[in-house]
This record gives sequence, structure tokens and C-alpha cells, in this order.
Amino acid sequence: MLCLGIESSCDETALALVEDGQLRGSALASQAELHALFGGVVPELASREHYHYIGALFDDLSKRANINSNDIDVVAVARGPGLLGSLLVGVAFAKGLALALDKPFLGVNHLHAHLLANGLTQKLEYPVLGLLVSGGHTELCRIESPWKIERLGRTLDDAAGEVFDKTAKILGFPYPGGTLVDEHAKRGKANPHLLPSPFLNNANLDFSFSGLKTAAVNVVNSARKRNGKLDESEVADFCASFNFAVVHTLVKKVDRALRQNRDVKQLWLAGGVAANSLLRAELQKLAKKRRLDFRAPDLAFCCDNGAMIAYAGWLLAKHGFSHDLDMEAIPRGRNIPDDMRREC
Ligand code: KG4
Ligand code: ZN
Repeated sequence: MLCLGIESSCDETALALVEDGQLRGSALASQAELHALFGGVVPELASREHYHYIGALFDDLSKRANINSNDIDVVAVARGPGLLGSLLVGVAFAKGLALALDKPFLGVNHLHAHLLANGLTQKLEYPVLGLLVSGGHTELCRIESPWKIERLGRTLDDAAGEVFDKTAKILGFPYPGGTLVDEHAKRGKANPHLLPSPFLNNANLDFSFSGLKTAAVNVVNSARKRNGKLDESEVADFCASFNFAVVHTLVKKVDRALRQNRDVKQLWLAGGVAANSLLRAELQKLAKKRRLDFRAPDLAFCCDNGAMIAYAGWLLAKHGFSHDLDMEAIPRGRNIPDDMRREC
């Protein structure tokens, strides 16, 4: 079964083909440079860019993968959460294609696709505890199967990636700067007491990162007042301390969730922040301590990509799931309805 996956929920227009669980080809148009001019994603510009590139990317992908449109067995698309105008471009394109080809159509939950991307290169075994950390979301999930994913905890304010990006911004790094904070952190020495590891003093599985963001701004501003411009080693040490505060918080809550879900077989990490080197290493350690398999996507599949949508779409279609063409795109902040049809 050949599944075309389309991702347009934020600032990447990405398409990919997955056949029988294997990635056959992908195409991506990133808008990062455009939005970097404004220090963050401008929704109106993002939709226009998706609209501009999506058709050409489809033609390019078909040519490079040497397929004819009729070879596609199912058309899958990210249906949310995300920026509504951006989502609508991908969803309308996918619906049009499915209608023209008379093939099944499927709207995939973008967050679930991030988690399931672990299956692109690794064997999966359920039930699973999943940590999803991206620019827009931070969630802990219990995953029973590709179609049964329950949220156990979430951020009450900023997402982990958002805090990385804001911290990068005050340090003068270009958007999205999470990866640069990680790079600088590797050369620095963390002071575990410099910044708070937020929202640990409670019994729940939720997160709150806005206080850490304010603390990071205050620490950088006072250091600048005291010493002027920060030199390279001061920036590296600060990044290491910041990295520590975020990762320490995430790992503590994952450990708490594991103690409450002792039957899980694997621990999965997913989302753009899953590329973070310290987070990968610390969760790997935790999984080993708890005698669990640890899964994190290859670096190429951490940030938004088409392969994760094509893979999730293939997985769901294989088990008989599809949507009618009146399926809605769901913006960030609204729950994704459980409205897939299943043919057995
Ligand atoms: O999953 P993603 O591509 O987009 C959303 O669905 O939100 O995640 C992008 C986020 C950005 O905030 C980016 O700064 C962050 O992932 N990110 C990182 C790293 N690489 C990407 N954050 C920390 N360390 C990294 N190595
Ligand atoms: Zn994402």
C-alpha cells in the first residue's frame, strides 16, 4: 500500500510517500528563512507559501520517486492541530487529489504522527509512554495503538520548543534557535542552580514553562548589566544551564508517568525538541534504569516532515481507517474529534 502524506500545519510544506511501512521519497519547502526576518512564524505568509509550493512539490516528488498519481493508494494529510490557514492549504490539496484519483482520504493528528514517526526506522511495541516536545506542544501520552492515544499531561502555557526559541532570541540567535541553544550548551558547563526546574512541586503530569522563560530573560539581562556583552564561554555556560533546567523537568515528569504506568513496554520521544542531545541521552538513561526500550526518531524525522504523516496515514489505512471528504481542519487549541471511519 502506497500512502502520500502531506504536512502543512505550520511553516514547512512537506510531502512524502510511504510504501508498506518504508519511506519511498520526500520533498520539503522550508519557510524558516522567511519567518526568521520577523523573529517567528507569520501565519498569513505561511499559508501563502504553502499555496505557492504544494503543487510543485507534489510534481517533483512524483517524478523523483518515479510514480504515477494512480499508483497512490491513500492520501493522508495533517488535519491539526496547527495554524488554520496553513492546514487548510494541505487539507484542500489532499481532498482534491483523493477525489480526482478516487482513492481513500485520511486526516492525521499532527501530534500523533510525530510520535508514530518512531516506527519509520524502529520496531514498535505497545503499550507505550510517549513524550512529545515541539515548538507548539509539550505532552505526555499513553499509547495503546496507533489509533488509541490518551493524553496524560500537557503544558499549561508555553511549549518546551517555544521556550528554547524565546531564550535563543534574547541571546541574539536566529529563529528557530532551539538547535543553536543545544549546540552552545555542548561547549558549556551547567549550573543546576542558576534557573528553576519549573512546576515539579506537585503531583501531576502537566508542565509550565513560562516562569522559566522569564527567569532566563532576567538572568541574561542582569549578566549584561553587570558585565556588558556576554562572551562565548558565558553564553555556552548559560545555554548549558538552560538546557539542564528544561531537560531535568521533562525527565522528572516522564519518570513520574512511568511509575504510574508500569505496564508500558517502550518509552518514545518525539517532536522538534526530540533532536536535543541532552534530552535524548537522559531519557535513554532513564529507560535503561526502568528496563524499557527507548525510541527516538532519527534527527531527520524530529522536526515537522512529510514522512511522519505518510507513515501514520499508512499505518491507519492498513487497519481500515479513513475519513469522509467533509473532515474539518482543526486549529491549535481545539480538540481533534475522534471521527475516523473504520472498515473491517
Ligand atoms: O516539531 P516541530 O518541527 O514544530 C512544531 O510542530 O512545533 O518543532 C520545532 C521546535 C522549535 O521550537 C525548535 O527550536 C525546536 O523544535 N528544536 C530544538 C532542537 N531542534 C529543534 N530544541 C532544542 N534542542 C534542539 N536540538
Ligand atoms: Zn510538529
